[in-house]
Amino acid sequence: MFSATEIHSELEEKLRQTAQLVNNKLRELIKTRQMDDNLREVLRYCLEAPGKRVRPALIIWCCELIAGSVNKTAEIAAAAIEMVHTYSLVHDDLPAMDDDDFRRGLPTCHKAFDEATAILAGDALLTIAFEILSKEIDEPKVAVRLISELAEAAGTAGMIAGQLADLKAENMVGSEEMLRVIHTNKTAKMFRCAAAMGAIAGRANENEFNHLCEYGLKVGLAFQITDDILDVCGSSQQLGKSVGKDAKNAKCTYPQVMGLEKSKHLAKQLAEEAVIALEPLGPKAKTLKELVTALLNRTK
Ligand code: IPE
Ligand code: IPE
Ligand code: MG
Ligand code: MG
Ligand code: MG
Repeated sequence: MFSATEIHSELEEKLRQTAQLVNNKLRELIKTRQMDDNLREVLRYCLEAPGKRVRPALIIWCCELIAGSVNKTAEIAAAAIEMVHTYSLVHDDLPAMDDDDFRRGLPTCHKAFDEATAILAGDALLTIAFEILSKEIDEPKVAVRLISELAEAAGTAGMIAGQLADLKAENMVGSEEMLRVIHTNKTAKMFRCAAAMGAIAGRANENEFNHLCEYGLKVGLAFQITDDILDVCGSSQQLGKSVGKDAKNAKCTYPQVMGLEKSKHLAKQLAEEAVIALEPLGPKAKTLKELVTALLNRTK
């Protein structure tokens, strides 16, 4: 999965099906919101570009692990987290932030349209995510828990804190401690949130919830370290975004601070810790374990 060789593993097929489910949900949700037709076109441009849908898959698979099947709550939560993630990419690519021209194999939103449109499209995705959680989840208590998890992970103690620290760290000599804080906040907390939302949708007990959250945090950190590594070693063709941008923007990244080999080693170590966090959940955690390896070895 996510690799150069098109080996059709069971996991790859499972992700393809999950992505299709999420894509259908996203299309339906965007289609039925009241909005200007031009804005709808922009949101579809951003959402329908081929993202990997890793965070929604985490929600769906954590729900399946706990409840034995996927339910409507998990589907809505999956669409909501993908909207928040997509908003974060649209804004991350803006000239005032990372200034990127390509995303998911296409011109970035501000390139395809314009900057004001990209800012508003991001705002719209963020807002719609919370609107759907509040309106489309049958049980109010469950909706509030999901909203609370997503708001915290994406908010000022999560992704926003991480993005702010990431920008402040440009041109600085970073430390491992500083990087861990940046990466945990800007990326890992959203992965933890995906696991938490899946656990909530599946009605996990407290122990199951905690194990899945621990798993999500570790996978998320490994995921961002791998993203840094791919910016150095990956192919823009496969990634669908520019490479070498971190060095160009003088970003504080793992390869820059500790070198490539140590970065790869750390990502592997975190991946192992993620798998260990799943042990108490037994053999049902097979898919989530396989996902860790696939993400560690990804080329896109
Ligand atoms: C990119 O996320 C931003 C990071 C947090 C590294 P993804 O690699 O999940 O991007 P898409 O959704 O597949 O485009
Ligand atoms: C972005 O990290 C994390 C977000 C919260 C969007 P990067 O800036 O490294 O992500 P890419 O490399 O542009 O996808
Ligand atoms: Mg960035
Ligand atoms: Mg970026
Ligand atoms: Mg990156």
